[in-house]
Amino acid sequence: SDLVENVLVERRGRVTLVTLNRPEALNALNLATMTEVVAAVRAADADPGVGAVVLTGSAKAFAAGADIKEMASQDHLQMYRADWFRGWEDLTRVRIPVIAAVSGYALGGGCELAMMCDLIIAAENAKFGQPEINLGVIPGMGGSQRLTRAVGKAKAMDLVLTGRMIDAAEAERSGLVSRVVPTESLLEEALAVAETIASKSKPVAMMAKEAVNTAFETGLAQGVVFERRLFHSLFGTPDQMEGMAAFQEKRPAEFNQG
Ligand code: CAA
Repeated sequence: SDLVENVLVERRGRVTLVTLNRPEALNALNLATMTEVVAAVRAADADPGVGAVVLTGSAKAFAAGADIKEMASQDHLQMYRADWFRGWEDLTRVRIPVIAAVSGYALGGGCELAMMCDLIIAAENAKFGQPEINLGVIPGMGGSQRLTRAVGKAKAMDLVLTGRMIDAAEAERSGLVSRVVPTESLLEEALAVAETIASKSKPVAMMAKEAVNTAFETGLAQGVVFERRLFHSLFGTPDQMEGMAAFQEKRPAEFNQG
């Protein structure tokens, strides 16, 4: 395992576990943390032996937002010139699946970071919210866009305008999170999901992720054609032959995971 400064990076089988590690600030996301998280996830993406990433925080906080103390004294031109938060977008460009395992607070940029991942697994104690309005700002890491796509206008307006927190049950009802698990087994469950994903064909999992993400970025007709073309292209891969042969021979498939 490798402690950078604000994140801990560990390898667990075919999964890279990235743990936000600023407990004194409830994992508030300063720019140094952004750089380290993005570098760790990109390194995992580039590693042929890794098939999925789990991004997590502490029991008390996944992340309590962007670092307010770091932002407070910035002026408009400083924010604009630095293109503040732009670096987080690189996380959404990685090709292997990234799972957010959320315990405790996922507020503001913490909720937005979780939404940049491909799926969110929540502990029963998780709390999600976009409280920026209470600071005199609005979400700045994609919250108004990704939350609206994830949960629809009604819930997104409610959260972004009131700044209230929702618990794990409401987050699951709303479609924000994939699963809710007991708090004490969050990491175990998230790593098991990641290992399951990593046991599939890696290129096929990458295409599956690309296909689902395309639903957020294109219209239906275009997305359906994109999916169908990807589907056709899989018939040029050994994993399609292996997967379909294994089914007919009633044995487990042995996929290319590199
Ligand atoms: N930035 C910087 N420091 C933070 C922080 C943040 N977002 N959240 C918590 N901290 C710090 C606190 O200042 C405190 O530090 P000190 O001990 O030096 O005072 C430490 O973490 C522990 O926090 P609390 O004492 O406040 O812990 P609590 O249990 O009483 O409360 C909480 C927990 C309700 C999450 C509270 O910390 C809180 O409201 N945090 C801010 C949440 C927030 O507004 N997030 C949005 C940030 S703006 C944003 O994210 C913009 C964007 O769209 C990207």
